[in-house]
Amino acid sequence: MAVRNLEQFCGKFHALLSAGPEISRLIAEGRILMGELVSRTEWFGDVLRKILFDREFSESQRPGIWPNEITLYRSLDRSFMILCYIWGPHESDVIHDHGSWGIIGSFMRPVGERKYRRMDDGRKEGYAELEESSSIILQPGETTHVLPLNKGIHKMENFGDDMAVTINIYGPNIRKGYVQFFSPERKSVSRIYPPRYLKEALAVRILGVMSAPWSEEILQRVQTSDLPDYIKKEGEISLSKLKSG
Ligand SMILES: [Fe+2]
Repeated sequence: MAVRNLEQFCGKFHALLSAGPEISRLIAEGRILMGELVSRTEWFGDVLRKILFDREFSESQRPGIWPNEITLYRSLDRSFMILCYIWGPHESDVIHDHGSWGIIGSFMRPVGERKYRRMDDGRKEGYAELEESSSIILQPGETTHVLPLNKGIHKMENFGDDMAVTINIYGPNIRKGYVQFFSPERKSVSRIYPPRYLKEALAVRILGVMSAPWSEEILQRVQTSDLPDYIKKEGEISLSKLKSG
């Protein structure tokens, strides 16, 4: 029987994942389930009620990179999470990658997706060359997917005069802590952190361009601290900038 609501979608997705499918099968079957979920709108009233009236639900929301993102479900075993994005008229995101696989369903209004291929080898810090590989319009009930890192560089856009909604499901991150934003015009790429890690990342970055007597000492301390690996990676970049600068 087709999925009729979020609870059934979660149940079926758990069952799909517990069979340990290959990624191609996971995406193909997951897209069918997502297509079923976003073809029905009845269940969405409960989501809106929760956003507006359920304090526990609103307090459980973590500030993320995208302000229009609402977390609908996190599986206890961390195998997937379901997010909702509410898009204003003519709103789009920035070209970005992902740390995990993901399936995106268009809900209520058409949304656009452009996919990009990375052309450089990624060795030059901050540099990226992209080529657009596809551009599609997803009608309500239709889905698209992304894969981790360079296999999932894309941009979503609500090109209409009305608001739009997408429902997204993502797997566990193989790269934690940040996403990358790309600018094809500037041929640049940058790591973007959610608010909870942004301050540490900014502190480490500024140390890389301040050749103060304490800059290197603080950056060395970052490397031996219990800060997350991605902040240490920022530290390495800042240290090499200091040394070359
Ligand atoms: Fe995305």
